[in-house]
Amino acid sequence: MLGRGLSCVFAVALGLALGLSVTGAETLTERALRLMAETPLIDGHNDLPWQMRKQFNNQLNLVDLKVLEGTHTNIPKIKKGRLAAQFWAAYVPCETQYKDAVRQTLEQIDVIHRMCSKYPDNFMFATSSEDIMTAFNQSKTASLIGVEGGHSIDSSLGTLRTMYQLGVRYLTLTHSCNTPWADNWLVDTGSDPMEHNGLSPFGKSLIKEMNRIGMLIDLAHVSEAVMNQVLDISTAPVIFSHSSAYAVCAHKRNVPDSVLRRVQEKQGIVMVNFYNDYVTCSKTANISDVADHFDHIKKVAGSSIIGFGGDYDGVTRVPEGLEDVSKYPALVEELLRRGWMDSEVKDALGRNLLRVFKKVEEVRDGLKSELPGDTPIPLDEVKNPCRTDYGYPTPTDNAGPRLAHTPSALVLSLLLLTALLAKSV
Ligand SMILES: *[C@@H]1O[C@H](CO)[C@@H](O)[C@H](O)[C@H]1NC(C)=O
Ligand SMILES: *[C@@H]1O[C@H](CO)[C@@H](O)[C@H](O)[C@H]1NC(C)=O
Ligand SMILES: [Zn+2]
Repeated sequence: MLGRGLSCVFAVALGLALGLSVTGAETLTERALRLMAETPLIDGHNDLPWQMRKQFNNQLNLVDLKVLEGTHTNIPKIKKGRLAAQFWAAYVPCETQYKDAVRQTLEQIDVIHRMCSKYPDNFMFATSSEDIMTAFNQSKTASLIGVEGGHSIDSSLGTLRTMYQLGVRYLTLTHSCNTPWADNWLVDTGSDPMEHNGLSPFGKSLIKEMNRIGMLIDLAHVSEAVMNQVLDISTAPVIFSHSSAYAVCAHKRNVPDSVLRRVQEKQGIVMVNFYNDYVTCSKTANISDVADHFDHIKKVAGSSIIGFGGDYDGVTRVPEGLEDVSKYPALVEELLRRGWMDSEVKDALGRNLLRVFKKVEEVRDGLKSELPGDTPIPLDEVKNPCRTDYGYPTPTDNAGPRLAHTPSALVLSLLLLTALLAKSV
């Protein structure tokens, strides 16, 4: 009897224990997916639009993103990866600077718009922090535009504003070349000459204008001097859309600890890049190497400045375990394995970017009464064979406005005409 009673109690206890482990203990995979269902994953940089140009010359009609192979990004991978919002890069190479950079950038903006129209069930074009939540509620990927490289605006505030009108919400100040108003990261490696010691006066006026219109300022790709000057000037928080931690991998594309701390003071965000070369400073990397960057940034400046900036389809080497956009949940799981709390993971997933974006929108709204910046870049800073100088005073005009010049030109023409007439008669 006793034996039977004991075994009965034992069976009940065992049953309880089993029941608990089935219903109570969430696996790390389940926990990662739950967090990603509660908070949108927002990625700062993806170059699928560049793949559209490179592989298809932007003929989207020839592409089906539901089955496209050979890229890091397609619709099934996006779904599997729970990618809730993406800043798609409107990127054109530095070789276009002083040539057709503006046209090519417009075409990249256009291809992103067309991608959203072609797949309305999967993508929602988005231009605000609220749009990101609306898309998330509808289980669509909020699709935002970031222009990667100041060469894309050809030193023109009017072009910057027009691109904002077209839906662009961040501008990376440089790609891997100097612009007439900002130095890029290659200056810090010594392979590009330092031209502005950071930003030129026009570059500084551009920062003010970006604050005024509500364009996020992206410091990926710029020199450290530019990072610090923008952190001095900007009244809104800044982003690094795809950069990792310099202390973990000493590559000049990464962010030094001193800047991480300043980003924290400004309540900005550093969205971690997965490119092997920036993750381990070598050709190979794995998911745990990427998590090391997350851990380091958290240790130095807290989880409130961290985000995801995979750089998918813009790089040739990605880590083992993060082969394409379907793998984000594995990285979230790795952070949980390392003891990240739910709230820290949610911050990194999307809450940090949403906070930054909202603040940028608030700063914009607070500057509504400011006049648009309209002082053009000085002509001698942008002289090149493909740029005309309409609007700038011509050298002989220095004495006064154009009208004052007209009478003498008129007199000269009359004299010439008289001479011609005299001859013909
Ligand atoms: C999204 O859905 C949640 C819960 O249903 C709701 O509280 C929130 O207002 C919605 N947000 C937007 C922007 O639609
Ligand atoms: C990742 O690579 C490092 C070496 O960089 C190695 O120590 C570690 O075990 C690897 N981790 C995984 C999960 O493969
Ligand atoms: Zn880049």
